[in-house]
Amino acid sequence: MAERRRRPEPPLWEQLAEASRALPQGERLQKVLAARGFGSRRVCEEIIAAGRVQVNGEVAVLGRRVDVSADKVTVDGEPIGLRDDLVYYLVNKPIGVVTTASDPQGRPTIVELVPSEPRVFPVGRLDVDTEGLIVLTNDGDFAQLIAHPSGGIDKEYLAHVENGRVSPAGLRRLRDGVELEDGLTAPARVSQPEAGVLRLTIHEGRNRQVRRMCEAIGHPVTRLVRTRVGSVADRELAPGAWRHLSLDEVRALGKRTRMAH
Ligand code: URA
Repeated sequence: MAERRRRPEPPLWEQLAEASRALPQGERLQKVLAARGFGSRRVCEEIIAAGRVQVNGEVAVLGRRVDVSADKVTVDGEPIGLRDDLVYYLVNKPIGVVTTASDPQGRPTIVELVPSEPRVFPVGRLDVDTEGLIVLTNDGDFAQLIAHPSGGIDKEYLAHVENGRVSPAGLRRLRDGVELEDGLTAPARVSQPEAGVLRLTIHEGRNRQVRRMCEAIGHPVTRLVRTRVGSVADRELAPGAWRHLSLDEVRALGKRTRMAH
């Protein structure tokens, strides 16, 4: 009987590749989830331990490592964002800061309030004398979607106005639409939590819109604060401070706009 030929040894590079596949590779799952806004590492470990995370269709166990560019990771069945080059900040803009990238008059700019790398830009704008929440990102597609007036993203403002309590007729005008020089405004949600303070929700983004609406009904604005962008609000964020949007917040903003189209 002829001697069976022994299988030749695989080339060295194949052996190395095989060996390295057996090594724990990639990043720890809880670190990946934490970086994508699911909470602290501790919280992410709990999410994994609860069996809510799958990697390539299998429930992940604690200690699992993933290669984010190759492995498909889901939380509660939803794929997690894999692009870790994109950032989304929520900033509480103080008065006096401009929402352009640079200012010929040398005033402080919104981009100076967040890390300088990667470079980001504001989504939409707030007047220099308006305070409150604004999103900054380097995700151009996302920015275009949520800044577009047809995107349907609600923005809520708190406006302190002159001349005391706004009459029911004034409130009705704001709600139904106010005739401005660039046309009738879309219906707004309006309440008056106290005399001379209005809470307005609009989804258009015309220049100085809230100020012009209030002026048109005889109540010029003395202070204007944006308190909500879509479903994103944050009473804890101090003026001048920023934080990352959570993945849920990014998703919620993106979903709202896509549904509205
Ligand atoms: N409406 C305004 O009048 N100013 C802003 O900054 C935003 C909305």
